[in-house]
Amino acid sequence: MLLEWGVLVAVAMATVLVPGAAGQYSPDWESLDSRPLPAWFDEAKLGVFVHWGVFAVPGFGSEWFWWHWQGAKDPRYVDFMRKNYPPGFSYPDFAPDFRAQFFDPDQWAEIFRASGAKYVVLTSKHHEGFTNWPSAHSWNWNSVDCGPHRDIVGELGAAVRKRSMHYGLYHSLFEWFNPLYLADKKSGFRTQGYVFHKVLPELYDLVNRYKPDLIWSDGDWEAKDTYWNSTGFLAWLYNRSPVKDTVVTNDRWGDGCSCKHGGYYNCEDKYTPGQLPKHKWEKCTSVDTNSWGNRRNMRLDELLRLPDIIDDLTRTVALGGNYLLNVGPTVDGTIPPVFEERLRGLGDWLHVNGEAIYASRPWRVQMENSSVPLWFTSKGQQVYAILLAWPSDYTVEISTPLTLPQTNVTLLGYPAPLKWSALQPSGLVVTLPVTSLAGGHGWTLRLDGVA
Ligand SMILES: *[C@@H]1O[C@H](CO)[C@@H](O)[C@H](O)[C@H]1NC(C)=O
Ligand SMILES: *[C@@H]1O[C@H](CO)[C@@H](O)[C@H](O)[C@H]1NC(C)=O
Ligand SMILES: *[C@@H]1O[C@H](CO)[C@@H](O)[C@H](O)[C@H]1NC(C)=O
Repeated sequence: MLLEWGVLVAVAMATVLVPGAAGQYSPDWESLDSRPLPAWFDEAKLGVFVHWGVFAVPGFGSEWFWWHWQGAKDPRYVDFMRKNYPPGFSYPDFAPDFRAQFFDPDQWAEIFRASGAKYVVLTSKHHEGFTNWPSAHSWNWNSVDCGPHRDIVGELGAAVRKRSMHYGLYHSLFEWFNPLYLADKKSGFRTQGYVFHKVLPELYDLVNRYKPDLIWSDGDWEAKDTYWNSTGFLAWLYNRSPVKDTVVTNDRWGDGCSCKHGGYYNCEDKYTPGQLPKHKWEKCTSVDTNSWGNRRNMRLDELLRLPDIIDDLTRTVALGGNYLLNVGPTVDGTIPPVFEERLRGLGDWLHVNGEAIYASRPWRVQMENSSVPLWFTSKGQQVYAILLAWPSDYTVEISTPLTLPQTNVTLLGYPAPLKWSALQPSGLVVTLPVTSLAGGHGWTLRLDGVA
């Protein structure tokens, strides 16, 4: 009896003390990089990215407005200010005009949900340093003290979660003109006043207050991760934070980390690999191809069209990535209807084709240029071939799958099975039906019983 108790106690203690089993990560990349990515992220496939801040007030050029104007002194921005604002006007003077009168988080979340997105990522703070939540470390430069007088991070989070989507927060490590940051920079990043008095207190606050499912880190590239104390923060995040089991992070945690350390990889903005990467990744891109933030000088021909978005999502998912599609709300708090149309259009497409996207896995082959370009995904026993063009003769040749006599081919959104015949040594020819679906964009063939 005594002996048995001893064994039981030893077993119980082992479960608590073995570092790996208890999820005890140490503050170094080898340990942090070994953490498995929470499963929800790979299954989600699609997210909506939202860039909103004081930069929406000038609404000109891009969300890098302040830097272009007073950092790089780009003549287009200097002229814009000279022509439209009185002398001596400073960037913080824009903040009172960030009014967000029509900001309705439920309406935003409804639009995002209708796009088929499973997560939403909001800029909690961009490089300008303005926080979209009442940060105690950003006195008079946050959305409750000035501008909208609302807790944007909190309000949007509640609306997003009400619709069963995951909620992520973008956070810029650096701030272009923060005097604490500039002092550290001047020291060659040997001092860390900005990190210990601004960045880290705010990151802990964001996590404890809003419990984000994703931290989308950015603005890291001027200094090493040791300056940012990134591994120390991440060890806390993974071991002891309220989101330790569910939170997902990206790879922007210091110069040299991108595409190498962290959770999933973003690599560069709009990164698109040529082949299947070994590590989970996400492509972030923007409907407005010239900007992430809203700009009033946007033109229709500078926007991604719906077919471009469908192609891009398809390629990304076939290559094992997630797709994070950005829209920039206006200074008044509206999602421009042209963005809303793109998002709802994508949702309509996913309503029919989502079976080939959500929770899918890359197949053994990613794409073929047969009769039309097509990309493969798979799920359990099913292989999906997503066609990016409708073949003019209504037949499509697919060369890689190995068929069996009982193989079935269906077109998602079409009720009857399709006729097909086997090719030698592998592949099949499928006859597409005469259907109104042909007028759309992006069609999925489901192949049951192929290898
Ligand atoms: C900085 O990182 C170290 C570990 O590398 C950790 O012990 C410390 O708590 C971190 N500081 C903050 C404020 O996060
Ligand atoms: C298909 O064609 C595109 C464009 O010509 C090319 O970039 C790609 O490598 C081709 N893929 C295969 C698998 O042949
Ligand atoms: C194909 O469809 C037939 C008839 O519905 C079914 O009996 C068969 O199991 C299907 N084959 C596969 C591989 O699912």
